[in-house]
Amino acid sequence: MGMVRQADAPLRGLNTFGIDARARVLWRLDSLDDLAQLGEVLRDDAGKGHPRPPLILGGGSNLLIADDPQQPIVQMALRGLRIVEDDGDTVIVEAAAGEAWDPLVRWTLSQGLAGLENLALIPGTVGAAPIQNIGAYGVELRDCFESLDAVDLGSGIARSFTADDCAFGYRDSVFKHVDAAQWLVTSVRLRLSRTADLKLDYGEIRAELSEAHIVAPTPTDVADAVSRIRRRKLPDPTVIGNAGSFFKNPLIEPEQAQAVRAREPELPCWPSGDRVKVSAAWMIERCGFKGMRIGDAGVHARHALVLVNHGHARGSDILALAMQIRSAVEIRFGILLEAEPVVVGAARL
Ligand code: EPU
Repeated sequence: MGMVRQADAPLRGLNTFGIDARARVLWRLDSLDDLAQLGEVLRDDAGKGHPRPPLILGGGSNLLIADDPQQPIVQMALRGLRIVEDDGDTVIVEAAAGEAWDPLVRWTLSQGLAGLENLALIPGTVGAAPIQNIGAYGVELRDCFESLDAVDLGSGIARSFTADDCAFGYRDSVFKHVDAAQWLVTSVRLRLSRTADLKLDYGEIRAELSEAHIVAPTPTDVADAVSRIRRRKLPDPTVIGNAGSFFKNPLIEPEQAQAVRAREPELPCWPSGDRVKVSAAWMIERCGFKGMRIGDAGVHARHALVLVNHGHARGSDILALAMQIRSAVEIRFGILLEAEPVVVGAARL
């Protein structure tokens, strides 16, 4: 059958910001059998002097297309979900990289498997989840990560990565670093359990459960509570374009945190290893950006960390607003914000 190739492909429906960009060429990967062909066409493309590595697209939910991308785009569309190991309590689930994340969460819950409940309703695909070590409400992907399979698009060589190999950090992994840019994740294995070990410490979850009069929550109750909180705070990308949090919460040295807190005592801070995580949303709100709008680029009215496309913003409009926010926060707090989404088609933010 072969891969689906599209030249001059419209990208508006393939990124949750809804940026109206076009790709020079887009390849859709529906089958592992097509990998050899994909390697060949990409090497051929590079041989013609086109830029590489390719941009790998999952749900397009952690992406800002600042300008028409010149590199080829590979749309990951591999599907498949299965249980690969089951000792009666611990269960290893394997999901293909093109599966959507939230339906996977719901499928595992329907199988009586706990572990992913706090990660409910995160947009995007399974293959993208380890790239930035997705996290929410006190849990990160690494907490239930078993291993993944990936293919080096440069050489065609496939290998597995353990959690150690992935070098997970806060919204970070080995795959985000330049020397690893050719790895295409093909499937991810997760270690789940029939015995729930619920993580309810993120205050809003308990409040949400008690609001619903739930005293002995199941993993599904937690997933439902998390989903309700997210729906309330975060804009639905099918209604208003966005890529979730646009900036990471900065990790700073304890001495710096102490100095900033002396001037800004209300700045929310959390210990994180030997550093301190500070709230980017709070700093952005304090600088007056919450709900602000410049043309169609804006800051969400209910969450200052989320940049939104009110309709026809270009990627460069969103990027310009992000830069304005970043310099305002740096001037007031002396802290440099780092973008969370991948920014393509422009110099790095
Ligand atoms: N806050 C404000 N103003 C706002 C929003 C929040 O001051 O407009 C302050 C509040 O004090 C609040 C604190 O920021 O207590 C934290 O807010 P929230 O719980 O919404 O979490 P966050 O730190 O802003 C992070 C993740 C989210 C994840 C939530 C919940 C990052 C970059 N973002 O946001 O992840 O859903 O925690 O765990 O770490 C994403 O990565 O795209 C994402 C949505």
